[in-house]
Amino acid sequence: MVVKNICCIGAGYVGGPTCSVIAWKCPDIRVHVVDKSELRIKQWNSEKLPIYEPGLEDVVKECRGRNLFFSNDIEMAIKEADLIFISVNTPTKTYGIGKGRAADLKHIEMCARKIAEVAEGNKIVVEKSTVPVRAAESITHILSANTRPGVSFQVLSNPEFLAEGTAVENLLHPDRVLIGGEESVEGDEAVAQLTWIYNHWVPTEKIITTSTWSSELSKLASNAFLAQRVSSINAISALCEATGADVSQVAVAVGKDSRIGSKFLQASVGFGGSCFQKDLLNLVYIAECLNLPEVAMYWQQVTDMNEYQRTRFAKRIVECLFNTVTDKTLAVFGFAFKKNTGDTRESPAIYVCSHLLEESARLNIYDPKVECKQIEHDLTSAAVTSDPERVQQLINIYSDPYEAVKDAHAIVVLTEWDEFISYDYRKMLSVMKKPAFIFDGRKILDHEALIKIGFHTETIGKRFSRNTLLRASGDHFPSFSWTL
Ligand code: UDX
Ligand code: UDX
Ligand code: ADP
Repeated sequence: MVVKNICCIGAGYVGGPTCSVIAWKCPDIRVHVVDKSELRIKQWNSEKLPIYEPGLEDVVKECRGRNLFFSNDIEMAIKEADLIFISVNTPTKTYGIGKGRAADLKHIEMCARKIAEVAEGNKIVVEKSTVPVRAAESITHILSANTRPGVSFQVLSNPEFLAEGTAVENLLHPDRVLIGGEESVEGDEAVAQLTWIYNHWVPTEKIITTSTWSSELSKLASNAFLAQRVSSINAISALCEATGADVSQVAVAVGKDSRIGSKFLQASVGFGGSCFQKDLLNLVYIAECLNLPEVAMYWQQVTDMNEYQRTRFAKRIVECLFNTVTDKTLAVFGFAFKKNTGDTRESPAIYVCSHLLEESARLNIYDPKVECKQIEHDLTSAAVTSDPERVQQLINIYSDPYEAVKDAHAIVVLTEWDEFISYDYRKMLSVMKKPAFIFDGRKILDHEALIKIGFHTETIGKRFSRNTLLRASGDHFPSFSWTL
């Protein structure tokens, strides 16, 4: 069999960009992306795509209608396909056993049942969503228990490693492509088919094949390791603030060790995104289920540290603003979980803002890409407030950052958007309440320059001795009594 038709179930952050790039690089293959959401599909077929990714629009425009199609006709797409990607969402369970930790596989299961119901002939089913180890086994069980005569399935694991904001670049130039398959002749044949697709643009040496379970675990482990690096440098940032060291200098020094490497050592207000938290919790849950409490505790600490970092930053804002933010206006720059995306899933901004709203601050929020409705939805959701009406009264969403800072007591930077670096802060300062504060939760601004023009400046992992104002709680470093 040579793959001629691909179906992708799930037109989200993973399925959409992945299949657009496959269609672009494989003009000989017809790619059909389907979703149960009519709105999503309508958006993929429109001028304004449902997700923002640099470079994606050009790829979609070139392929759409040629060998890339978006529709709600899930059954037809499954029937026609030789290979089916499952790219549906796997959120953390919000109910029942494993609530708050395990991945919710209901969407995956529905896909597997639908495939079993309508498929004809031989199909390769590729699990692309992040799923717990042995999910492929569950998919295989569902498929084989419902298989009709003349139909056969091979299930592969092919986790996605793209990061939002650089999805197209990551897909075009991946560090590696990971394919896990059953160790059998049929399994090897299916792996070869998927390898052939990637080989259209990815060199063979970058394509790693493993057992299905190793592939599934590698995805969770990769995200856990990345999240752990951020939590590790954030833990060091707290030490820096307490001692006068500078976390950026420490990160450079540490990162120069080739065994450690320099990437992912940017201290911040905390990590966000749809994957890190979910995959860590998933790993913790799996370890607990396997009766490995020490392993579970180890990874749990990575997410605990992330929560600590967000809370610590919010507390520091309140503390610096003379221990009260009640009725003070704070301009919030950035709401997305990172730059170059409009995605707010698990964004640290949600938690920092909620903390400030609990203290009755008024927030003027500006983000270049996040929709106004999304910000309102995130800050009024039951997960973060019991009083959504009050939150609505306290937040204002702006489309111009210069308007957002009028009469504000402080600017709080929560996403590392490039445009924040080049603003005219002198102009902003002139319309703000004095003393004016700036809290850079992403370490992107020129702090010395801000202090010079008169901002009281605070950032992660560093204290400024040249700040004109002392912190409300006193600017003393703790004195240590070392016992050797
Ligand atoms: C370490 C640091 O590497 C060095 O930079 C520092 O100055 C002193 O401490 P050392 O303890 O001599 O050096 O050896 P190292 O190679 O780092 O190994 C330390 C331990 O970790 C060893 O027991 C080694 O077996 C173990 N290790 C190392 C692993 O178990 N797995 C690894 O992948 C690497
Ligand atoms: C991540 C993984 O990188 C990707 O391989 C996987 O497939 C999905 O999850 P993503 O969540 O899109 O991708 O973004 P990433 O760039 O990993 O950033 C995650 C979070 O960590 C962001 O909130 C980012 O701001 C934060 N971060 C990252 C830091 O705070 N410091 C860093 O040094 C790096
Ligand atoms: P991810 O970041 O994993 O891509 P998203 O939430 O962005 O997650 O996208 C997942 C997509 O999968 C959504 O558009 C959702 O409507 C779709 N989806 C979920 N379950 C099904 C299903 N059973 N059939 C078809 N589409 C589904």
